[in-house]
Amino acid sequence: SQRTLVLLKPDAVRRGLIGEIIGRIERKADWTISALELRTLDQDVLEQHYGEHKGKPFYEPLVAFMSSGPVVALVVEGERVIEGVRALAGPTDPIAAAPGSIRGDFGTIVRENLIHASDSEESAERELKIFFPSFA
Ligand code: GTP
Ligand code: MG
Repeated sequence: SQRTLVLLKPDAVRRGLIGEIIGRIERKADWTISALELRTLDQDVLEQHYGEHKGKPFYEPLVAFMSSGPVVALVVEGERVIEGVRALAGPTDPIAAAPGSIRGDFGTIVRENLIHASDSEESAERELKIFFPSFA
């Protein structure tokens, strides 16, 4: 089975959507939450996490937003969980995301799209080391 790194972004925490979003993940059959932490991300962690986007016009506002309040970081394990959490989240732009997805149900603006989920096995292992170094 796979593991993936999920972040409930500061907008999700501020809006009281932690339970709603974790509930959707938790109710999927045979998936397990194997680590979970509330923390405020510093610039160094965000530069590691979103390094691929450095230099893009949305990078600086993204880092400012992601450090604007606590996030919930989780490791989820299970069958096809990388693809699966991305499917629950929906596409990056919440307006393009179908109703029924997390971003489609709760989001409007691209930056404040509620949830991060690793996009490949390589990303998952890299991100797990950033957020849960002792666990990974
Ligand atoms: P993450 O799970 O957060 O990595 O989202 P993603 O994989 O769906 O998107 P991507 O990695 O391409 O971009 C990372 C984050 O940057 C997105 O979740 C958005 O919050 C933000 N972002 C991406 N593209 C844009 C954009 O064109 N405009 C703005 N304002 N923000 C963007
Ligand atoms: Mg991404």
